[in-house]
Amino acid sequence: MSLTLVRNINVATMTNPELGIILNAAVVLDDDKIAWVGSVNDLPATYQQIETRIDGEGGLLTPGLIDCHTHLVWAGSRANEFSQRLHGASYEDIAKQGGGIISTVKATRAASEDELYELARERACTLITQGVTQIEIKSGYGLDMQTELKQLRVARRLEQTLPVSIRTTFLAAHALPPEYKGRADDYIDFVCDQVLPAAHAENLVDAVDVFCERIGFSREQTERVFSKAKQLGLPVKLHAEQLSDQDGAALVADYQGLSADHLEYLSDSGIQRMKEAGTVAVLLPGAFYFLRETKLPPIESLRRAGVPIAIATDANPGSSPIHNLPLMLNMACTLFRLTPEEALAGVTSHAATALGSAQQGTIEVGKQADLALWKVRAPAELCYQFGVNPLQKLWQAGTEVTP
Ligand code: NIG
Ligand code: FE
Repeated sequence: MSLTLVRNINVATMTNPELGIILNAAVVLDDDKIAWVGSVNDLPATYQQIETRIDGEGGLLTPGLIDCHTHLVWAGSRANEFSQRLHGASYEDIAKQGGGIISTVKATRAASEDELYELARERACTLITQGVTQIEIKSGYGLDMQTELKQLRVARRLEQTLPVSIRTTFLAAHALPPEYKGRADDYIDFVCDQVLPAAHAENLVDAVDVFCERIGFSREQTERVFSKAKQLGLPVKLHAEQLSDQDGAALVADYQGLSADHLEYLSDSGIQRMKEAGTVAVLLPGAFYFLRETKLPPIESLRRAGVPIAIATDANPGSSPIHNLPLMLNMACTLFRLTPEEALAGVTSHAATALGSAQQGTIEVGKQADLALWKVRAPAELCYQFGVNPLQKLWQAGTEVTP
């Protein structure tokens, strides 16, 4: 048994909407788990003699941050499209002309598994140095058997080689590959009958996602993928209502989905269905910012309905080339008017719910010891400034991570 005592800290346990703050607190780590948390005055005598003691210097301890929506494994660059957009083209125009997701698909197919791993490793390390201990990673830049599996294997390998938990999401229904032009239903058959079962058989899939959109797949096609996922016992989530209202949020809720993500065009009935099903709203302020969207997700209605809100980077080469979760905290507040408390819940407790991660997201006895110690006094400081890194120490599964 290896015990570590962290003291001289304030803790945001994230166990209630007020962040579950404990002032002048202590936390005991027992190997990879949290053994005790509370006011230092209540520390049991058995823990007072622990040899490994860390002085938190009055800093704030939060759960390790969780980036619950990324597309981290890709090759190539889309800087040219950034430039095209500044010359007047829209994101949808570029996609229709064979650019967009498909241009990343070409580069990702051409890259070796080792090349992809190196690219993704660097991005994951960037997130880890900001206090991130869990990352969700989607496939969807392969759109063929070999490359979808290659992306998911890279995601799994990151967990074996880096101090981070990874959740994989199968997103082969992200765009129509050129070889299936005009045959979207055949592609969905291929995804359901061949690619998803193969990826699942290799234990590469923790959840299944679809891009339900005019430039993605229809509601009917989405439902076919969901029903296959259900048959395999896999949870679902959805890129829903990003550019138009496809009533996708209600569909993913019908399948008791973990989350509906983006949601700029979400309707009141979609919100109601999400609330009933316990589906988390994952908001992606980076994509909203980078695509210069003007339609805001219905934050106030989500809040009023009590739908849990998570925040993520959506790190990807096209709509959010942003590998910075603390910046998303700031953008969630400035662009979406979330309070700092809501934003912090969005990258901890609610992000964990969006991934079905019962072991992460809060500081509670028995949970995995994923902890971030920050050189700040008040939680709002984590949201209001960016570009500086106040991370003081990080533990992932009880092991201190050296940045
Ligand atoms: O989450 N919306 C679809 N997928 C990504 C964008 C992918 C891309 O443009 O490469 C997103 O925004
Ligand atoms: Fe996305």
